[in-house]
Amino acid sequence: SAIYSAGVFGRRPVVPTSPDALADAARRRMTRTGWAYVAGGAGAQRTVAANREAFGRYRTVPRQMVDVGERSLTTTLLGRELPAPVLFGPVGALELAVQHQRGGRAAAPGHAEPALAAAARDLGLPVVISSQASTPMEDTAAALGDSPRWFQLYWSADDAVAESFVRRAEASGCEAIVVTLDTHVLGWRTHDLDLGYLPFARAEGIAQYLSDPAFQALVAERVARTPDPAAPAPRPTLAAVRALLSMARHHPGPTWRNLTGPHARAAVETFLDVFSRSTLTWADLAWLRERTTLPILVKGIQHPDDARAALDHGADGVVVSNHGGRQVDNAVAALDTLAPVADAVRAHTETAPVLFDSGVRSGADVFTALALGADAVLLGRPWVYGLALAGADGVRAVATHVLAELDLTMALAGASRVDQVGRHNLAG
Ligand code: FNR
Repeated sequence: SAIYSAGVFGRRPVVPTSPDALADAARRRMTRTGWAYVAGGAGAQRTVAANREAFGRYRTVPRQMVDVGERSLTTTLLGRELPAPVLFGPVGALELAVQHQRGGRAAAPGHAEPALAAAARDLGLPVVISSQASTPMEDTAAALGDSPRWFQLYWSADDAVAESFVRRAEASGCEAIVVTLDTHVLGWRTHDLDLGYLPFARAEGIAQYLSDPAFQALVAERVARTPDPAAPAPRPTLAAVRALLSMARHHPGPTWRNLTGPHARAAVETFLDVFSRSTLTWADLAWLRERTTLPILVKGIQHPDDARAALDHGADGVVVSNHGGRQVDNAVAALDTLAPVADAVRAHTETAPVLFDSGVRSGADVFTALALGADAVLLGRPWVYGLALAGADGVRAVATHVLAELDLTMALAGASRVDQVGRHNLAG
């Protein structure tokens, strides 16, 4: 109602409330490179489009004369009460959204995750910290204070790095590990490829690694065995090294120590070696299960059999997602896989949470995902657009708009609580 009253007195919201206008404003604000990275998807972008199109196929049925005067969005996830069934999803190389801006508006480096943390803290919504974050997780954790945070793991090819990330996440107060399974190889990201830009491997995306003792040891080993550290590196790596060195200049902290010539190059090369592991099978989940008592959720599930296998092998919950259409072009819309996966999970383990992302743009979308069986959703691109447009205020505004519309949609569908939303709210 605060948003409406502001409107009555002629005040415009910090960022547009319309999802399309929000994306459009962000597109105009960001450089082509920044926009390609955040908005782009795999191949011909068919999955990005399909994710949105799917929401149009599930229709909510409004209900009348239900007492919805007292409403609450609160929900309990993994034993913790949350103000709403919404989390900030993991987004790597976040700095690119604020640094790649038109008209020389780039923010000083180091402000992306702190802005996200400030907004999340105000709202009490959890942040899922990315393995590819632009800020070491310890700093983001400090900025979050007591606010909830989870850690998203890209399972490194190097056991020591993978284990070290998990230890650091535990020490940073993360309440769950979200293992992303769908990116053991990076998708065919045509927009990034055409611009000759590898956002993922740039300094803005490897802070978590550079600040990691196990990773630093690998870099030192590589430098020690490189015969001629001054030899020129292949072009993309050289570009990444430049970015790394520029980052090192802006962050003269211990994270960037030793990032002079050969170390910088070795860091990028080591990252490309250890980033992921394509040999993983379900049996490997036991390795992770033995190493942490935190709940483990697997992200990227789209088939009921994969959901069952994950739970059989020690996962505590699933995130139904196709990575926002960034991995497989022409993949099935994530929303279309939600109900079958949610049903499989419910039949297997009554309490295992089912989360959803990929295409959520509004409160009405959150409602649809809840109705199809999600316990909560992750917001992706929309909050990054808010960040690009207005920093922490923009992130806060985007999330507030989503929650406001969710609340109204519930009211108009006759639901006062999140657990009252279900398939009975949908047509057909
Ligand atoms: C992502 N996503 C992602 N996922 C993940 O597990 N680790 C990561 O580091 C990233 N990085 C990342 C960067 C950017 C720019 C985007 C847009 C997305 C995927 C993300 O968590 C989520 O699955 C999607 O964003 C959901 O799709 P929508 O709702 O953004 O379309």
